Amino acid sequence: MKKILITGGAGYIGSHAVKHFLEKGLAVVVFDNFSRGYREALEILKKIGDLSVVEGDLLNPSDLQKLFSQHEIESVLHFAAFCLVNESMEEPELYFRNNVIGSFNLFEAMRQNNVKNIVFSSTCAVYGESQYLPLDEKHPTNASNPYGESKLLTERILRWYGEIHDFHYTILRYFNVCGAASDGLIGDSKKPSQLLMQNAVRGALGIEPFAFTCPQVNTPDGTPIRDYIDVEDLVRAHALALDYLKQGGKNDTINLGNGSGYSVKQIVSKVEEITETTISKKEVEPRKGEYAAVYADIKKATDLLKWQPQKSLKDSVLSLKKWYQNFPNGYSH
Ligand SMILES: NC(=O)c1ccc[n+]([C@@H]2O[C@H](COP(=O)([O-])OP(=O)(O)OC[C@H]3O[C@@H](n4cnc5c(N)ncnc54)[C@H](O)[C@@H]3O)[C@@H](O)[C@H]2O)c1
Repeated sequence: MKKILITGGAGYIGSHAVKHFLEKGLAVVVFDNFSRGYREALEILKKIGDLSVVEGDLLNPSDLQKLFSQHEIESVLHFAAFCLVNESMEEPELYFRNNVIGSFNLFEAMRQNNVKNIVFSSTCAVYGESQYLPLDEKHPTNASNPYGESKLLTERILRWYGEIHDFHYTILRYFNVCGAASDGLIGDSKKPSQLLMQNAVRGALGIEPFAFTCPQVNTPDGTPIRDYIDVEDLVRAHALALDYLKQGGKNDTINLGNGSGYSVKQIVSKVEEITETTISKKEVEPRKGEYAAVYADIKKATDLLKWQPQKSLKDSVLSLKKWYQNFPNGYSH
């Protein structure tokens, strides 16, 4: 049986994609080096369906050759990457090596094994500071950190593989991803998470104090405005993107967000309201490489993929609450 390859399937978003495709009855192979992902997530997911796991590193082409020789792969969802803006401002070399060279190695392994369908996880960080809002896909790209730049470089490589090697691709530029599986089975296990809503819910449940990591920016309440998309809405868009490619849809770049912006302070208040708690807050060193406001124009996703976000902020907060109640300390390994 031909399989869907999910790179980074042991990570936060990748594991939700694995769950989604297994629940649809499809066979999945995960490729992950477990540098930032969790084996336990895959052990849980193996109970759902036909899941194979190959431990390997994108930076090691022989690991990729082994993967493609052992499994018949039809399409690729490429999540594996490092994705911490702040870390990328301190160690840019990590980002260019892992994200750009790692992705290039994957594209080469695909080319050599005649696998041409790929959905690539990109980010709104490729746009940098917004020149207008909401941001559509034509907005100039001007990444303000090496993480965003590494994704932009990878997008460019992929475009040439489309042009010259007949790759069929969709580049999905995600905005801020939040939430967990609505059944509480899997979620984001980072401790603390790098993601605002995750940390606010952890704070609300008293798992650890909440820290404002954002810099002071030029917005009405002085905190950054972002667009929050639920992880289950996000992975559903990947399934639609694969269908679109298989039906002959053209290579394209598509934003995935909710289409509205919330400031950091607004999200924290929402979490307090939904969980009926007051979150204890501490101040820490602000992150570097952040910008004031971004939120997405999602018309292209609606038109091409026939996709609409279905989850509200409340749904995301409640799914996180369920996940952290089930796994207050995240996965054990
Ligand atoms: N989380 C967000 O809000 C967000 C927003 C925009 C884009 N993205 C993109 O979505 C993707 C997934 O993000 P996430 O939040 O799930 O991250 P994550 O860190 O939870 O997962 C990444 C996974 O990739 C694996 N990995 C990393 N480098 C690897 C390598 N060289 N070889 C094999 N495996 C490797 C890690 O072990 C991990 O399991 C990333 O590409 C990220 O850039 C995430």
